[in-house]
Amino acid sequence: MLSVFGLKCAFGLQVFVCLDKCCFIFISQQCFNTCKSSQIVSVQLFCFSVFPFLQYAFNDLSGSVSLAWVGDGTGVILALTTFQVPFFIVRLGQSKLYRSENYGKSFQDVTNLINNTFIRTEFGIAIGPENSGKVILTAEVSGSRGSRIFVSDDFGNSFTHQDLPFVPQMQIMYNPSDSNVLLVISNDLWLSENFGGNWRKIHDMVCLVKWGVKNTIFFSTNLNGSCTDRGMLTLRRTTDYGKTIKTVASKIYSFGLGGRFLFASVMTGKGTMRMIHVSVDQGEVWNMAQLPPVGHEQFYSILAANDDMVFMHVDEPGDTGFGTIYVSDDRGTVYSKSLERHLYTTTGGETDFTNVTSLRGVFITSVLAEDSSVQSVVSFDQGGEWVPLQKPANSKCDATAKDPDECSLHIHAAYSTAMKLNIPMLPLSEPNAVGLILAHGSVGDAISVMRPDVYVSDDGGYTWLKALIGPHHYAILDSGGLLVAVEHSTIQPVNQIKFSTDEGQCWAVYNFTQDPIYFTGLASEPGARSMNVSIWGYRDSIISQSWVSVTIDFRELLTRDCVDSDYVQWLAHSDDISDPNDGCMLGYKERFLRLRKDSVCWNGRDYQVNTQPTPCLCTLDDFLCDFGYYRKENSSECVEQPDLKGQVLEFCLHGKEEQLQTSGYRKIPGDKCEGGTTPERKEIDLSKRCVSDLLGPELLVNIFLRVNVFLCFGFLVHRYSVLQQHAEANGIEGVDDPLETNHTQNGKREFHDDSDEVQWKHSSFIHRLRE
Ligand SMILES: *[C@@H]1O[C@H](CO)[C@@H](O)[C@H](O)[C@H]1NC(C)=O
Ligand SMILES: *[C@@H]1O[C@H](CO)[C@@H](O)[C@H](O)[C@H]1NC(C)=O
Ligand SMILES: *[C@@H]1O[C@H](CO)[C@@H](O)[C@H](O)[C@H]1NC(C)=O
Ligand SMILES: *[C@@H]1O[C@H](CO)[C@@H](O)[C@H](O)[C@H]1NC(C)=O
Ligand SMILES: *[C@@H]1O[C@H](CO)[C@@H](O)[C@H](O)[C@H]1NC(C)=O
Ligand SMILES: *[C@@H]1O[C@H](CO)[C@@H](O)[C@H](O)[C@H]1NC(C)=O
Repeated sequence: MLSVFGLKCAFGLQVFVCLDKCCFIFISQQCFNTCKSSQIVSVQLFCFSVFPFLQYAFNDLSGSVSLAWVGDGTGVILALTTFQVPFFIVRLGQSKLYRSENYGKSFQDVTNLINNTFIRTEFGIAIGPENSGKVILTAEVSGSRGSRIFVSDDFGNSFTHQDLPFVPQMQIMYNPSDSNVLLVISNDLWLSENFGGNWRKIHDMVCLVKWGVKNTIFFSTNLNGSCTDRGMLTLRRTTDYGKTIKTVASKIYSFGLGGRFLFASVMTGKGTMRMIHVSVDQGEVWNMAQLPPVGHEQFYSILAANDDMVFMHVDEPGDTGFGTIYVSDDRGTVYSKSLERHLYTTTGGETDFTNVTSLRGVFITSVLAEDSSVQSVVSFDQGGEWVPLQKPANSKCDATAKDPDECSLHIHAAYSTAMKLNIPMLPLSEPNAVGLILAHGSVGDAISVMRPDVYVSDDGGYTWLKALIGPHHYAILDSGGLLVAVEHSTIQPVNQIKFSTDEGQCWAVYNFTQDPIYFTGLASEPGARSMNVSIWGYRDSIISQSWVSVTIDFRELLTRDCVDSDYVQWLAHSDDISDPNDGCMLGYKERFLRLRKDSVCWNGRDYQVNTQPTPCLCTLDDFLCDFGYYRKENSSECVEQPDLKGQVLEFCLHGKEEQLQTSGYRKIPGDKCEGGTTPERKEIDLSKRCVSDLLGPELLVNIFLRVNVFLCFGFLVHRYSVLQQHAEANGIEGVDDPLETNHTQNGKREFHDDSDEVQWKHSSFIHRLRE
């Protein structure tokens, strides 16, 4: 049988031909932008040495399947299929467990390991931290006051069950630094130190719990017994698994952890207003963040955080759907306004905020324009400046554009998904695939609701290329050396996978089966180092319905290991090599060795990102304006806020009242510049004890405005008053709450959005079975 498949460049010329097991790749000099056949300089032949794909059909028609990778590089996948009858009061259901040891090429039905028990899929498959090989499945036991878990410590090879004296209300949480220690809320807080063997209640009535560093547990509780009484909660901490418990804040609304910062939104005592307080020492000493307060209908959200800084969203009052992003200094207390009209829905808690992990300092999000359209913006300097995304060279402006030649790219992310647009995947980037971003988007003046296309950037979001027409599922394999995509269609079964070895410029098409499947998703090992990808879906015929997974091992195709000559040097953030500051980002430049676009080879599992950072000379742009200072438009200079002129500023930091004389500049968190322009500054430490203000600030404002001298009753008075004036002058109102929104609550956004678990459902099955 001779099968010919075309590989299309972004511009449509075929240069990749696959014949049954082999593919010819025509390497053209400039294929990677224009694909002119006249420029083909060489032809390479690649063959799958064995039949390239393995198919596994599950004798199973369940309504959903959840996948989890157990361990790193082990090739172990657990697939849990669950069928649940949704309309009985007593939940009825059936679960089946399958296990693969070869990256999904074949599965074994191991349902007997869980004794055919119904597993609660909403709590998922809880995989232990590191390479512990631990797995927990939470079972549903009807008609009992307790519940049951199945635990494995050998990568799911065997399971034992434990009966719990309580019913979990959340997925059981592992201590990130000791996988034997488990924590879960069931109204009360329960802890096990021997991987589920014994459980002990460590506190009554707990609302929210989080693991901190080194065995620290933070939780909020209401001594009166109601978690709905927001603003009356107490934040407590234990470092010895509940033997001693310390209250670290009271009258809190919520709390959150991000990087080395602990945040709590604390009631101000003034009506329903609350303010963010920050601690960098596990809650011993708190400082009031220089952020606007918010009312009960507003929220704060930690968009992203690391040990250097946080991005904080502060919701506007009223149901506007937007707020303001602030970026913090290294203390987490002084904030600069980064982006206004930042889209973040109050109702659903959706934001498009995305940390582009493939290039340092790059973030993409959406703003809600005055005309209520949604527009994408990108920052290349950690929130310093936000600009529209450049229009891809190979695409035309759509109908949303006023000027047919001038428009920008808009990226679909969580908001579009929530609006039920046909966006099968969020933007994708991986730290080891330097510079690469794949995302759905449209080109115009605002995000279009029409069918999106897939765009690729290979330079961290500066320039973009339209890569695939229509919505696709996509995955990054082999540290970016290989991209794969499958067209997303809800009605048509599919049998083709597309792949690219040149960072998304040319795509080969391969028929992976003769018998098309209803496609549900792509699955590859988290971390983007694999060469194996599984195409999941189901077959639907009159006689049988079953889940199907087809696994393709691209190692069969890309057999050659990459060598030194396959890599080229690339300077990140660079557009003008003649400028000595070219490529400087947060005070240093980074040169990377990247795979050449025309190299067709295997980076390998052990591939390490190779970078040589060199420090840049400091300029004023490496500093942010300290408290009481601001930048005039189009100027790098920090000038004193007029209402502070001649006044002494005081800060409540590190538990001490510091009188601070500053030139107004503070190094941007994470900035590593050296030499150059360094504004001088001087700090005088008055070493007066100062605790955070948990009282009504209006009182304090009065004292301070009147007395206007250094007078600390243990409150951050001055900052608050200045903030108020500043807020009034700028019309800012409202503050945030780091834990209140959907994705901060489930911890996905700020802590680990490493997607080591996926779940697909196809409601059609459930539907049919109901009839
Ligand atoms: C590959 O799949 C496409 C679309 O399903 C089909 O049109 C084509 O004939 C297939 N090619 C081969 C060789 O099977
Ligand atoms: C399954 O049930 C059998 C018999 O009741 C029991 O011996 C075994 O331990 C159970 N296995 C698990 C994993 O719970
Ligand atoms: C508990 O309830 C009492 C009476 O309703 C109230 O006065 C008190 O402030 C509450 N305490 C807390 C911590 O919620
Ligand atoms: C963004 O992602 C990168 C790579 O994972 C990480 O190093 C960085 O700390 C993140 N930035 C923030 C602010 O979370
Ligand atoms: C792909 O799967 C095979 C097992 O089927 C495994 O030996 C190989 O290491 C995997 N490749 C990568 C790059 O993970
Ligand atoms: C700042 O620069 C922009 C663009 O260069 C210009 O449109 C704007 O008028 C400038 N603003 C001031 C206050 O100079």
